[in-house]
Amino acid sequence: MDHLRPVELRHACRLINHGPTVLVTSAHGGRRNVMAAAWSMPVEFTPPRVAVVIDKKTFTRELVAAAGAFALCVPGAAVVGLTYAVGSESGRDVDKFARHGIDARPGPVLGMPIIGSGCVAWLECRLIPERHTEDAYDTCFAEVVAAAADERIFSNGHWSLRDDNVDLHTLHHLGGGNFARADAVQRPRPAR
Ligand SMILES: Cc1cc2nc3c(=O)[nH]c(=O)nc-3n(C[C@H](O)[C@H](O)[C@H](O)COP(=O)(O)O)c2cc1C
Repeated sequence: MDHLRPVELRHACRLINHGPTVLVTSAHGGRRNVMAAAWSMPVEFTPPRVAVVIDKKTFTRELVAAAGAFALCVPGAAVVGLTYAVGSESGRDVDKFARHGIDARPGPVLGMPIIGSGCVAWLECRLIPERHTEDAYDTCFAEVVAAAADERIFSNGHWSLRDDNVDLHTLHHLGGGNFARADAVQRPRPAR
């Protein structure tokens, strides 16, 4: 976690603006958990708010509802195997942190698990009570209350995807356990 630096809240939504697969972490009553989620996105500017789809059947959802909080940790390409693994088993049956040797510490505001192992950014989020979420929907809305990113790939509010940091580039789920890695494309600049 040596390279993680705080991200100003006004820039926090940029950490998931491009739709990376994230690891949703949660903790309550002495238990903690992590699952993969391909479906998350920014939904509001100020304060920064996000939405993430967390299936009601998951153990994560149970912990998130009880704690009123979660964290979104953004894995880098080097941990594609871990990302798929924690999305393919339930924390009801196993402590995924112990099984996979995941290094985590409590977040600064809400105490949600912040993953070090191979993650390049995180957002700590307070769940927004919402009747439709409680009654029916899998979509959870939350306010981002703290964020940080690896300075080797995100600084001054911007991602920097380069050839010398490909292991840190984010992951994008294509379905069926297949992933793409984010890459940068230069847009043409008008001639002066
Ligand atoms: C790459 C990937 C992306 C996933 N995206 C989502 C998602 O956006 N929302 C969701 O509810 N489940 C998603 N899942 C499934 C959960 O991660 C899975 O149900 C997990 O086992 C739940 O764990 P838990 O019961 O410990 O919370 C995804 C799984 C994978 C492998």
